[in-house]
Amino acid sequence: VGTISVLRLGHRPFRDQRVTTHVALAARAFGADGMFLAAEDAGVVRSIEDVVRRWGGSFFIKDQIRWRRCVQDWKSAGGTVVHLTMYGMPLHQAIDDIRGREKILVVVGAEKVPGELYGLADFNISVTSQPHSEISSLALFLDRIFDGEEFSLEFPGADVVIEPDRAGKKRRDP
Ligand SMILES: C[S@@+](CC[C@H](N)C(=O)[O-])C[C@H]1O[C@@H](n2cnc3c(N)ncnc32)[C@H](O)[C@@H]1O
Repeated sequence: VGTISVLRLGHRPFRDQRVTTHVALAARAFGADGMFLAAEDAGVVRSIEDVVRRWGGSFFIKDQIRWRRCVQDWKSAGGTVVHLTMYGMPLHQAIDDIRGREKILVVVGAEKVPGELYGLADFNISVTSQPHSEISSLALFLDRIFDGEEFSLEFPGADVVIEPDRAGKKRRDP
């Protein structure tokens, strides 16, 4: 699997701050390279950059992104656009086809997604045809695309590293 970035649409400042932050945290933890945010929110950007500083890796976050331009530029550069939506084709049927792609932009929405996106995306993919959330759909998508390898990811440059422990909270020096 090559580059995987996330595009977060429909973020409403204040109201969606927590969910959008969690979209970015899930994206980072499960192996995406970074996230484009189609809205302005310096607070979300700051909190994710702070996580990257403390927990390592090179995840990027960029706000004030124009979503249509982002999708079009991605496609012009030879990338593949995957829109996660409960109306799309089942993930398990499409995953082998998507896994072969070098550069993937995963698009997740919030309350309402522009209808135009369905036509612009190379794949409209559902993670079950039941409504749930951008965080759960993204997490499952990344797990399927990396086939579980995200569990072995390393995050170079961390100040904080956890030592897994049965009974408590342990940290070790990086
Ligand atoms: C809370 S949902 C709202 C969806 C909105 N009602 C619509 O029709 O586009 C927010 C986002 O979660 C993701 N999502 C929710 N359920 C999904 C599913 N079953 N499969 C894939 N993505 C899903 C989609 O990216 C969606 O834009």
